[in-house]
Formats: sequence, structure tokens, C-alpha cells
Amino acid sequence: MRRRDYEGPDDLRLMQDLVQRTWSPRSRLHIGDVAWERSVNFGRRGDTWRTALWEDDGQVVAWGWAELPDHLLLVVDPVRPEAAAEVIAWYRALVPEGACSVLEEETHLVSALEAAGFHPDDEAPFFTHHDMSLSDLRTPVVPDGFTLRHVRPDEVEKRAAGHRAAWSDLAPSKVTDEDFAAVMSTWPYRPELDWIVEAPNGEFAASALIWLDEVHGVGLVEPVGCAPEYRRRGLGQAVNLAALHALRDAGGTDARVCPRGDDGYPSARALYQSIGFKPGARTRLYVA
Ligand SMILES: CC(C)(COP(=O)(O)OP(=O)(O)OC[C@H]1O[C@@H](n2cnc3c(N)ncnc32)[C@H](O)[C@@H]1OP(=O)(O)O)[C@@H](O)C(=O)NCCC(=O)NCCS
Repeated sequence: MRRRDYEGPDDLRLMQDLVQRTWSPRSRLHIGDVAWERSVNFGRRGDTWRTALWEDDGQVVAWGWAELPDHLLLVVDPVRPEAAAEVIAWYRALVPEGACSVLEEETHLVSALEAAGFHPDDEAPFFTHHDMSLSDLRTPVVPDGFTLRHVRPDEVEKRAAGHRAAWSDLAPSKVTDEDFAAVMSTWPYRPELDWIVEAPNGEFAASALIWLDEVHGVGLVEPVGCAPEYRRRGLGQAVNLAALHALRDAGGTDARVCPRGDDGYPSARALYQSIGFKPGARTRLYVA
């Protein structure tokens, strides 16, 4: 097994290939999580990231993504659990005290973290997987004057503005037009799976982006938002349902979304459960 540092977009695709090759319903990450998190934040935060890939016989068997100063994300092929210890040792050499979030069902990662001296922080916020089959989807409905449609590739600025409007409750969103252009050019983004509700004044009032993993037929919903002045009028529900219909039309059979599961942020999971998503496994933060 050989470690090497991340070198650029070709390696992002190799990281996603490992996620896709090893994916099961018990995986923390979907290819869409990796696409979204890396593309939307790279321009502003990429200089604080350290990323390494572990390869064996020409195949990536693990990767680690350290967001300095204090968070590790890792993916390890479950049939190569010994690679988890290597990723964690690499991270500990960068950061003596750190934290790592995994899905509770990723037992190969939990064991490696515990063996390296990490322990669960049960007070930390967590995320809960929510899943639904696309076999029985309600018809989306929007108020008169509002339009449901997918984004066009030339609408980067409006799409980014709609995202910022929905994600500025706690502090103004820092996502730039360039960040969103990066999202829209990252595999497996497709404009047909990026839905918005257009208000009568032309603003993008609500949005839902889905990333389809064609191998598994599963679409990840990430992110979803509705601008504060348009909330509690059913737009979040409608834009999700419309995107889910498009996902089914594109060949998807199931959808996943991962909202906060703790009571510190209940609105998102309430929205998804109102659509038909059912809660499953949760993440847990391990700290050293
Ligand atoms: C979560 C969010 C997308 C909801 O959008 P919305 O357009 O207001 O949602 P809807 O009007 O379609 O709500 C549908 C149902 O979801 C639930 N819901 C939505 N917002 C809720 C809230 N703040 N508290 C409790 N339940 C809520 C309710 O069951 C609601 O039905 P009801 O209004 O008849 O009670 C919006 O609040 C938002 O953009 N928040 C900031 C970004 C965010 O958290 N995105 C999701 C992260 S995974």
C-alpha cells in the first residue's frame, strides 16, 4: 500500500470512484457528498485541506481528507480495514488532537478510531441518514405565480444568489458565483437534477440539487434551501418532489438525504419526513 498526496481534479474522481465502488446503504458518504463538499468550498477553504490517497496494485483503497485544524473525513474499503489505521496515523501526525465523524454502522472505521484512542462525543451535533423509495411520489404543487423548473447551465449567478438567500440565517453565506460554477462543473452534476422554484419577480425562491449515482440508482439530495421570505408555503416540499420525479425519470430508484438528527436543528428533517423520507443510521463524532 502506498500513500500519495492529492494532486487535482483527477484525484477527486478517484476518491469518488472509491466511494461508489464500496457504497452500500451503510456508507456515510455518497459520491454527491464528495462532489458538493469539495467543489463548493475549495475556492475559499482549499488551502487548509490536506488530502491523501492510499493505493494498492493501482487501485485506491482509502483516502483521508483533513480539514485543518480539527476534522478528518475518511473512506476506507471495508475489505482493507488495515488501511483505516494508516489514514488515522497520517491525520494524527498533522493534528495531535482532532476529530472524525463516521456513520455508526461503519464498524471498520469505528474500530480503527477507538484503537487509535478516539472516543465518541455524544454531545456533538450529528446527522441522520434519511431514505425513501421513488416508487410512490406525490405531485409537487406551488402557489399561483410561482414556477417549478430545473436550472439551465447559463444560470450560475442566479443559482448562486438563490443558494445564498436560503443559507444566510445564522451568518451571511460566503458561497460565491465562482464556487457555484465549480459545483456545476463537478461530476456527476446534471442541470436536469438541479431544481428551483422561480418567484413571480424572477428570484430563485427555493432549490434542491440531486446527485445521481447511476451504479446504485441512488440520488443524494444536497443541498436544499428556501429563502426566509418564502418559507412555510410548501416551496421546499414542492422543489424536492420535483427533483425526485426528475431523479426517477433519470433512472434512480431511491433517494437519500442527511439532515441534522439532533434537536439543535430540527426544521430540515421535519421537511424531509413530510415528503416521505424515513430516518435510519446516524453519524457520530469521535475525538482524540
Ligand atoms: C428547511 C427549509 C428548506 C424548509 O423550506 P420551506 O419552504 O419553509 O418548507 P415547506 O414550506 O415546504 O415545509 C413543508 C413541511 O416541512 C416541515 N417544516 C418546514 N420548515 C419547518 C420548521 N422551521 N419547523 C418545523 N417544521 C418545518 C413542516 O412539516 C412543513 O409543513 P407545514 O408548513 O404544513 O407544517 C428552509 O427552512 C431552509 O431553507 N432552511 C435553511 C437551509 C436548510 O436548513 N436546508 C436544509 C438542510 S439539509
